[in-house]
Amino acid sequence: IIKMTDLDLNGKRVLVREDLNVPVKDGKVTSDARILASIPTIKLALEKGAKLMITSHLGRPTEGEYNEEFSLQPIVNYLNDVLDVPVRLAKDYLDGIEVNAGEVVVLENVRFNKGEKKNDEALAKKMAALCDVYVMDAFGTAHRAQASTHGVGQFADVACAGPLLAAELDALGKAMDHPARPMVAIVGGSKVSTKLTVLESLSKIADQLVVGGGIANTFIAAAGGNVGKSLYEADLVDTAKALMSSASIPVATDVVVGKEFSETAVATTKSVADVVDDDMIFDLGPDSSAKLAEILKSAKTILWNGPVGVFEFDQFAEGTKVIAQAIAQSDAFSIAGGGDTLAAIDKFGIKDKVSYISTGGGAFLEFVEGKELPAVAMLEARAKG
Ligand code: 3PG
Repeated sequence: IIKMTDLDLNGKRVLVREDLNVPVKDGKVTSDARILASIPTIKLALEKGAKLMITSHLGRPTEGEYNEEFSLQPIVNYLNDVLDVPVRLAKDYLDGIEVNAGEVVVLENVRFNKGEKKNDEALAKKMAALCDVYVMDAFGTAHRAQASTHGVGQFADVACAGPLLAAELDALGKAMDHPARPMVAIVGGSKVSTKLTVLESLSKIADQLVVGGGIANTFIAAAGGNVGKSLYEADLVDTAKALMSSASIPVATDVVVGKEFSETAVATTKSVADVVDDDMIFDLGPDSSAKLAEILKSAKTILWNGPVGVFEFDQFAEGTKVIAQAIAQSDAFSIAGGGDTLAAIDKFGIKDKVSYISTGGGAFLEFVEGKELPAVAMLEARAKG
């Protein structure tokens, strides 16, 4: 694919699709990871002399109408604070807009445009007409074939990958396509059903597949353990059994249980054999966490998606903490993705110790599932001519 870093942008009208879909509360950005990840792209485009327009979605507003709740204004305010060039928001831009070199124009939430989500051709052409060069940099939205991530790139004079998208594809490719071995994948989260294709894909690639959270409960049940009142999926027990017979999936031997899902629930550590019918499993026990930490010690590639316990509650956070610390201490190439995983990384302060933190949620999972990301496929097709 063509890369923005290789192009001359001087004096050109450049439209960069970022994923600035960040949490906003009371008009303020509450997690800036995605914005920070896009800043090197913005700075590079400015250095290259581009007349720069940034486009993104925020949330899932009703299409075809303006809705202040989903305005990109808070993100514009944030960018104005961290960039030393003026940043302004443009509300009406589809029929053309004046942009000067040395400023950043953020186009209002792209999902206010009718036809964005269904990749409407007329809309995509209007967006393409705004620019000389279209830069797809929104890895987090690369799994969506929408007008601003896909169609626009088909009609723009030049379509290329931005530095963030390129870095994401490199890092994920390194972990998934040619992993240094042994490779350990950690998949946590609440349900097997939502991560089934991820588990199937990783069971074929990873040397060890560590499961955690509600997902692990279904595997404990598959191994014949009692999970009490824990969240688990009875209809997927056979699937879990099949996965366990085809791949190395260590199952917890001890767990931390509570009687109710609450911040004040009393935590009790016990062996899986001692779990009773009104117990709910909320974390890995210390022996199981220690064994996993040991596995992680010898890993050369670690892929992490999803916490292994209810880490938001301190009494059930230890398993996720042990895993986070083991990743931090490891010299393996480590890659982490997904919203909850990033929150855990923040909570345990290991941000600088992970080799690559992805900005993708759904896109990260689809890449790991081995699916083709439509925005990337579009860039590949354009590069072929
Ligand atoms: C995300 O947060 O995963 C991306 O920004 C995509 O958002 P969407 O699921 O609303 O398309």
